[in-house]
Amino acid sequence: MSETPKTGSSNTESPKADPASPTTSSGIPVELVYDAKSLAGFDAARELGAPGEFPFTRGIQPTMYRGRLWTMRQYAGMGDAEESNKRYKFLLAHGTKGLSVAFDLPTQIGYDSDDPMAMGEVGKVGVAIDSIEDMERLFEGIRLDAISTSMTINATASILLALYVAVARRAGAEVRRLSGTVQNDILKEYIARGTYIYPVRHAMRLVTDIFAWAAEEVPEWNTISISGYHMREAGCTAVQEVAFTLANGMTYVQAALDAGLDVDAFAPRLSFFFNAHNNLLEEVAKFRAARRMWARVMRERFGAKNPRSWMLRFHTQTAGSTLTAQQPENNIVRTTLQALAAVLGGTQSLHTNGFDEALALPTENAARIALRTQQILAHESGVAQTVDPLAGSYYVESLTDEIERRAEEYLAAIARFDASSKGGGGKYGMLRAIEQGYVQREIQNAAYAYQRDVDEKRAVVVGVNEFASGSDAEEAVVPLQRIDAALEQRQVERVRALRARRDAGVHAAALRGVEDAARGGENLMPRILRAVESYATVGEIANVLRGVFGEYRESVTV
Ligand code: 3HC
Repeated sequence: MSETPKTGSSNTESPKADPASPTTSSGIPVELVYDAKSLAGFDAARELGAPGEFPFTRGIQPTMYRGRLWTMRQYAGMGDAEESNKRYKFLLAHGTKGLSVAFDLPTQIGYDSDDPMAMGEVGKVGVAIDSIEDMERLFEGIRLDAISTSMTINATASILLALYVAVARRAGAEVRRLSGTVQNDILKEYIARGTYIYPVRHAMRLVTDIFAWAAEEVPEWNTISISGYHMREAGCTAVQEVAFTLANGMTYVQAALDAGLDVDAFAPRLSFFFNAHNNLLEEVAKFRAARRMWARVMRERFGAKNPRSWMLRFHTQTAGSTLTAQQPENNIVRTTLQALAAVLGGTQSLHTNGFDEALALPTENAARIALRTQQILAHESGVAQTVDPLAGSYYVESLTDEIERRAEEYLAAIARFDASSKGGGGKYGMLRAIEQGYVQREIQNAAYAYQRDVDEKRAVVVGVNEFASGSDAEEAVVPLQRIDAALEQRQVERVRALRARRDAGVHAAALRGVEDAARGGENLMPRILRAVESYATVGEIANVLRGVFGEYRESVTV
């Protein structure tokens, strides 16, 4: 077993959040003043390039928001399909430009609403989707060939993608023109989010099956959203977010190459998803460093020739973990600053959190304020008028370099977990590092260190450990979004009624087809598509795959 590589943050002593010697979230010391000496030897031509040119530090498009604003894409979903459809139409009416579907946990973990495992969770943290009929209700009155739709779905991504394509096909949309994204990032589920089902090897096959199938069938579909968001929400630092996200990305690329795919056949449709956290300038530097690193990894390590393969295109969500239940209106300010960081950092798509989300799913009012925040940034702040406005800043360029340097240290440490792999270079170091709990421990250590800073008031959280309200009476009473308690029973009855009226023979044959493909190694997507069109449910298909692949069991690494 490889020894655990030592890296900067694996102690529990946090970088002291000391006003006299402040640091960023990643523990990078912040100097009192930055000047030309801070950038001595800095080669702008090499390190920045022009906007829209390798290494894309300044952004992936030559004109960025002057050519097209980022997509205002609000993550939403709750209750049953009708309730979520109502919220999507509300957001579209208020100016959102892309859809982003939040699914409930049973859908994400492959249980139908009437499965005992789903009890109490149906429609709670997202929309309950059991069947093609639910999916049709979800998008009722929305033209799927006229909007891009993101789906936050991982272990069951192949099933939900198939449902989306099946619904679009039934509505007469041109399937090859469908635009959207499935998150499909199973590695971060093992690391930080937990909605995994299958053992890693089989889960990776499902990921690369989507890469291969989508390239042929829905070539404008983004096949994965390699996510740093959830690891950051779990407590990692900005540097760790870059390192672990890119390490996961490199693992997916390697797996696709090992599955026989040509890098330029799938890489242009890889996408990313990052957090926008509180330290405004560190976040801007983080996005710029990540873009530059990925461009070099794709061109130099993986030999990609298509410039679109080199581009790190990403969505950003403002940091849910920074939202406070205390003085919730303060969250509007936090979200604004975080959204500003994402825009100054060149995001392609953005979700802004509702101010009430430390308490519940966002109400319509909170969702509207969140969207208006983006619209004010876009149309009133001036920050969209020029590309990468902070370029050349002594501090931001220094921080971009330092984040890159520290992230590279992590990547080297991760590669050492798989030094034994043929040809060296740690092709699957990240898989070994996850299996051994290294990544999880690094995140836990960072989270623990930050919490100690808060508890010991080295890190200020306004309204919580400083400037707190004198009494509960001063706390704003905000109306909260409620989920109808009768919803679960209605959804249970719906899925049972569907099973009763479908053609049992067609359905059974389709499920057998999924099983045969799972066992035989052929691409699963065509069989899953046929199954959902035969009214097979999410849980039934997921269970067929459970029967073939088994389920992932987290090993306790001491
Ligand atoms: N000049 C010319 N063309 C431009 C341009 C410019 N300035 N700007 C954009 N364009 C083009 C793009 O090239 C693109 O065309 P193409 O598809 O032919 O390349 C088109 O305009 C659309 O632009 P983008 O692709 O940049 O924008 P999208 O919004 O369509 O896609 C994305 C953005 C990041 C690539 C995509 O993957 C995406 O939308 N991701 C969203 C993921 C998401 O919403 N996730 C939510 C997760 S919620 C979660 O997990 C948290 C929960 O668990 C708590």
